[in-house]
Amino acid sequence: MTPDPTTPPDAPGRLPVVGHVMPLLRDRLAYMQQLRGHGDVVRIRVGPRPVYVVNSPELIWEMLTAQSANFSKGRLFDKLRLFGGSPLPIAEGQQHLQRRRLMQPAFHRERINSYIDTMITTAQSALRTWRPGARLDVLNEMQLMTQGIVMSVLFSSHPDRDPAQAIMKGVDTVFQAAIRRAVVPVSAPEWMPLPGNRRLRAANSLLRRTVSDIVTARRETPGTQDDIVSLLLDARDEDGRPLDDEEILSEITALLAAGSETTAVTMAWLFHELGRNPDLEQRLHREVDTVLAGGPLTAEHLPRLGHTRRLVTETLRLHNPAWIVTRQATVPVRLGTAHLPAGADLIWSPYALHRDPELYDDPQRFDPDRWLPERPQPPRGAYIPFGAGKRMCIGDGFTWAEATVLTALIASRWTLRPVPGSTVRPVPAITVHPSSLHMTAEARGHAAAREAA
Ligand code: HEM
Repeated sequence: MTPDPTTPPDAPGRLPVVGHVMPLLRDRLAYMQQLRGHGDVVRIRVGPRPVYVVNSPELIWEMLTAQSANFSKGRLFDKLRLFGGSPLPIAEGQQHLQRRRLMQPAFHRERINSYIDTMITTAQSALRTWRPGARLDVLNEMQLMTQGIVMSVLFSSHPDRDPAQAIMKGVDTVFQAAIRRAVVPVSAPEWMPLPGNRRLRAANSLLRRTVSDIVTARRETPGTQDDIVSLLLDARDEDGRPLDDEEILSEITALLAAGSETTAVTMAWLFHELGRNPDLEQRLHREVDTVLAGGPLTAEHLPRLGHTRRLVTETLRLHNPAWIVTRQATVPVRLGTAHLPAGADLIWSPYALHRDPELYDDPQRFDPDRWLPERPQPPRGAYIPFGAGKRMCIGDGFTWAEATVLTALIASRWTLRPVPGSTVRPVPAITVHPSSLHMTAEARGHAAAREAA
């Protein structure tokens, strides 16, 4: 994996060639980080195709903002077409712009503030199932909470724990299959009666049923809820036509997937870090206890939870769920000294960018205090957990609110202790999730006392 010496790295249009094939799953994160040392833009191979990895924060920023018109979302997203529709994360050009305008009101700051009470009550009902001393699969618990929050806030739907678990598995199956189709050039046709295909069909029909039920219920009682389902049902295109059922289905499923897994993974990593940094955990408990002063968490408390928010900021740096984001050049482009042809596949990695020693002191260390206002901040383009430009995550404000709520709410009542002897590895799948994260839930003393009173 050293640069090809026959290719001068700085020659315009010619790039260092590194490695040949994207390595096996578990080595991929190290590989992406190692590539950063080989130049601003580096050519590698993924299967038979050349892929250009953009490393420089300035060039990533340029690609996502000033030059965004020259790129489409790329191969990975192409395979993520859901139920035949092109939801917001996949739509291109005019269709993307229209869909983004349509959905933006649901993600305005004031709207997010109005969601906080529902976020709190939804998380509280999930937390009621925790028992002192129980060993929790932390990622699974976080997924149930974040999916529950997306469903209650955006779709006004409140499934019980078992159906919620089935929906979560369904979303995962559908997306894993899409990713496999994107990276494995030849895969078995979907009609073949293989176990994987059967699981995929079952997952597809479960999701279709779930989302159709939400939409049907809403059509039967129009005007009862003011949420994203209503926005989609009321939408009309330039010719006055409503969105068809497949489009609504794919848009809701995409939101469910984009909005649940990413935040769940972030929360799992945050509690993993607290489990191995007891000083940071104590500071969190002190802050939450002081701000809440024995009362329940409300939206008004969030601005005063500075350490809590910095824990979220640092988790989104060190454990960014996105390890790879794709683009495709739609015209010949120039990025720095690199000239790339139309059709070139590009990737950048928020995960690797956020761990670059050129951009962060001691980058592998989990240190929320690096975000204190008096400390020097990283340069533009060095911290972009939600991407940038016209395709930037629409759910960034939603995530900040949700992650702060979940951290404070859990910390006000529970301590999560690592299970002795367990090792936690990052696994780069759809997101970078912990290999397995089991922790023991301990009720915090004063909370237990308050409950007993
Ligand atoms: C930790 C949490 C999250 C992270 C790290 C994250 C990350 C990202 C990133 C990096 C992108 C841009 C991809 C690109 O440039 O190609 C994106 C797009 C998107 N995200 Fe998120 N996201 C998170 C949470 C959410 C939530 C909570 C929602 C919705 C409730 C959401 C919905 C979307 C949508 C719809 C897009 C596509 C936007 C567009 O193309 O216009 N995300 N996200």
